[in-house]
Parts: sequence; structure tokens; C-alpha cells
Amino acid sequence: MRKTNILTAVLVCSLLTLASAQSSAPAPTFNQNIASILYANCVTCHRPGEVAPMSLMTFADARPWARAMKARVLAREMPPWYADPQVGNFRNKPAIAQADLETLAAWADAGAPEGTGAPPPPPDFGDGWSRLMDRAPDLVIDAPIELEVPGPGEVPTFTVWSRLPFRDDRFVEALQLAPTNRHVVHHASLSIGDLPPKTRLGQAALWPGGPVLTGVPLLGDGQPYRVASNEEFGYPLVFYVPGGGFLRFPQGVAKRLRRGQYLSWGMHHMGHGMAEKTRMRLGVWFAKRGVHHEAETMTANLRRIVDGKEIVPDARGRVQIPNIPPRAENWTITGLITFPDDVTLYSMWPHMHYRGKDMTFTLVRPNGREETLLRVPNYNPNWQVTYELEKPLRIPARSTIKAVAHYDNSAKNPHNQAPDQEVIWGPQAINEMFIPFLEVSVDKDNLRFEGVDPR
Ligand code: HEC
Repeated sequence: MRKTNILTAVLVCSLLTLASAQSSAPAPTFNQNIASILYANCVTCHRPGEVAPMSLMTFADARPWARAMKARVLAREMPPWYADPQVGNFRNKPAIAQADLETLAAWADAGAPEGTGAPPPPPDFGDGWSRLMDRAPDLVIDAPIELEVPGPGEVPTFTVWSRLPFRDDRFVEALQLAPTNRHVVHHASLSIGDLPPKTRLGQAALWPGGPVLTGVPLLGDGQPYRVASNEEFGYPLVFYVPGGGFLRFPQGVAKRLRRGQYLSWGMHHMGHGMAEKTRMRLGVWFAKRGVHHEAETMTANLRRIVDGKEIVPDARGRVQIPNIPPRAENWTITGLITFPDDVTLYSMWPHMHYRGKDMTFTLVRPNGREETLLRVPNYNPNWQVTYELEKPLRIPARSTIKAVAHYDNSAKNPHNQAPDQEVIWGPQAINEMFIPFLEVSVDKDNLRFEGVDPR
């Protein structure tokens, strides 16, 4: 007993010495310590023309934010990430070292000194393509139109199409959807699919009364092709929101883009002070080495359950999900997909609109054992994040992925503009969606891809 006490005393003494040594250590300064932390973790968003409200590129930019930065990083609110840290490991989770958090905090506590000398050179953002790749995209596909966004206000959501410029199917390891001018793009989505036979791309009004531009599919009779309001075109490839828009697969896994298919570019613009031009672009990285797994987009909502009842198709084959009543605070829906074959799961993307509150993905194995794969407890519709598993997950045949989502249509939801309205299902921002996206490969198909030349 005695011995332990002495030992503790010695320990405490040496800790105290350490602590006092630390407090007399020179305070961190912007030039020596802080700039490099901000460059590595923050300035992809916090720089002029980017999504975040203020730049953190220079001492003058960052100094007024020292206390706010300390608060936000210690609360783990910045860099933004919405998954429950207790569940799953994700390879795109922003990793900021604990030591760096403490350095940011110590800098704020010391009054945010600049330090002597000069800060390190700022990072080179190149042309805006993801720095997670070892090279620039192999191909950049431009959207068929450049849009001039007039003064302040919202431009109605619209879609234009272009045909894939490939003579063969191509396999891609990464895709990035990015605007040339981020300032005026609220979000954009890129889907891929087939248009009805005899369709050609021509000119038409982008929306009733809107500008006449190119990239609109015209059917055999010359009428513009329109997707029914409760349907979607093809399947989604990538979704751009500030800070997002990048999709990649592990080595040897790739997504097939089929020759002859069409890209549909859905866009939502928001004007600010003056007229500004922007164009969406798709950066494509081809898979360079043997592709052995083809990734497919699936959704964990092939069956849907509301209020304990499964929503079954009506006589005309249409699935009608009940509307979300006005002011409902915790409206629940469950979606299921059961895999007939062994599959490998790569990533999950919970997609909802402004009433989305939370979503949880659970694996139910054939023996009934459950395992939570992803929990997003505070869903933020402005950050459409694809959660990439650190290690792809093998899932045995006859397993189910269950996705449970809650919606808040009350005034308590800060994103909700109209709590007195019933919410219908559909692709417009004022409608709701429930799409638990999965990127999966079907294992038995994969031998087919062994040795495929991805070019
Ligand atoms: C993926 C983009 C992104 C990254 C990376 C990011 N931020 Fe932010 N940050 C934002 C956006 C967008 C906002 C405004 C919305 C909000 O407050 O959530 C914001 C807000 C903030 C605010 C609050 C500003 C205010 O008005 O009070 C602080 C402070 C902040 N960020 C600090 C940081 C720091 C420090 C880092 C790096 C450790 C960082 N952010 C990384 C996008 C980002």
C-alpha cells in the first residue's frame, strides 16, 4: 500500500513537472504550427470561392476565428462528418490528429499569435480535381451547356443529357462531378441510363418558360422527353454538393459505363450578387489494372414498411408510399433488400431531402444476427456523404440490409420551410426521398471480369 502511494506521489510530481514544462513551452503560432494544420484539414472548403463561409488561408483570415475554430474542432463538428463514430470504419472519414486539435486550442488560448518568419507555402489546388487521386482525371466530360446564372435567386431545377463518348464499355475506378464555378451551384446529380429508341438530343426550353438550350432529348415525334415526376432516369452515378461529388472504388473494383448510354445532368443553381457562368464537368479515372469486381448501385428499399405494414404495389404496379403528415416529428420508414447471392459491400449513401432526420443501415445475416453498418444520427441534407467502408464487407447470400429512416416535418427541424404541409414523395427538393444507396458487387459475377482489359 505504502509503496503504491509513494509511487503515485512520484508519478503525480513528474506529471506536474511535465505540465509546467508544457505551459512554459512557447505557444503555437500561425506561421510555425497552425497554417499547416489548416492547409491539411480545413482549406479545401475554407478558401475564397469555396463552400465554407470564411477563408482560413492566411493569418489575417484565420485570426478572428481562433476561438470559433477551437470550439468547433473540440466538439468534433469540423471538419464535418455525420456518422456515429461508434459504428463502422470509413476510409473517407476526415482524420485530424488529436495533437492538432490540441494545438488549435492552445493557439486560441494564447491569443492567436502570428509568429515570426513566414507560413509554409499554401497547398496547390491545381484545377480542383480530387487530391485523393494520384493523377488528374483521364477524361473530362463537359455537361452540354454552360449556364449563365442571373442575379440573386434560385434557378428552377432542370436536367440536360449527353451521350457517353465511348465506343466500348469502359470501367472506371473513380468519378468526380464538379462545377467550373462552385459559387452558384447548390447541388447537382448525375445519372446514367438509356433513352427511348429514336430519341435524339436537340434544343428545347430547359423548363417551361426557361431558356432554350441544347442537350434536351427529343422523342421520335419531336416532343421533349420528360421523366415522370415520380420516376427517375436510369441509376445515379454521383451527386455533387459542396465538399462532395467524389466517388471511388478500391483497387480492382470498378464501375462499368456502358457504350451508348446517356448521362443525365440534374442541376440546381442559386444566384448571388451578379450574373455568373458555370458548367458541370465529370472527371473520369479509368481503372488501369485488371478489374475483378464490378460495382453496381443497389438500394436497400426494394421492400418498404411503414407503420408495420409493407407497402405493396397497386393493381397498376405502382408503389404508393403514404405522405408525411404536417408537423409529424418522427415519421418512420424501413427499407429492405435481400441478396440472393453472395455480395461485397463497398459504400453506403443515405439520401433524403430536407425532412430527413436520421438513417441507420443494419446487416441481418441469414441466421438472424444483426450488425449495424452505418448510423447517421443527425442527417444534414446539405452534405450528401457517401460513406466508404474501410474494408469491403463480404455478405453471404440470403442476408438482408435493412435501412431505417426518420423524418421530421415539424417546425423543430431547422431545414424545414413548410411544417404545415403534407410532404409527398418525389425528386423535387420540396418532396421527400428515401434512398439508402449501396455500392455492391455480386461475387459470382466476378470471375467474368478476371483479366478484363479496362480500356
Ligand atoms: C468539407 C468542407 C469543410 C471542411 C473540410 C471544414 N469546414 Fe468548417 N465549415 C464548413 C461549412 C460549410 C461551414 C458553415 C456551415 C456550418 O457552420 O456547419 C463551416 C463552418 C465552420 C466554422 C463556423 C463559422 C461560423 O460562422 O461560426 C468554423 C469555426 C469552422 N468551420 C472551422 C473549421 C476548421 C478549423 C476546419 C478544419 C479543422 C474546418 N472548418 C473544416 C465546411 C468545412
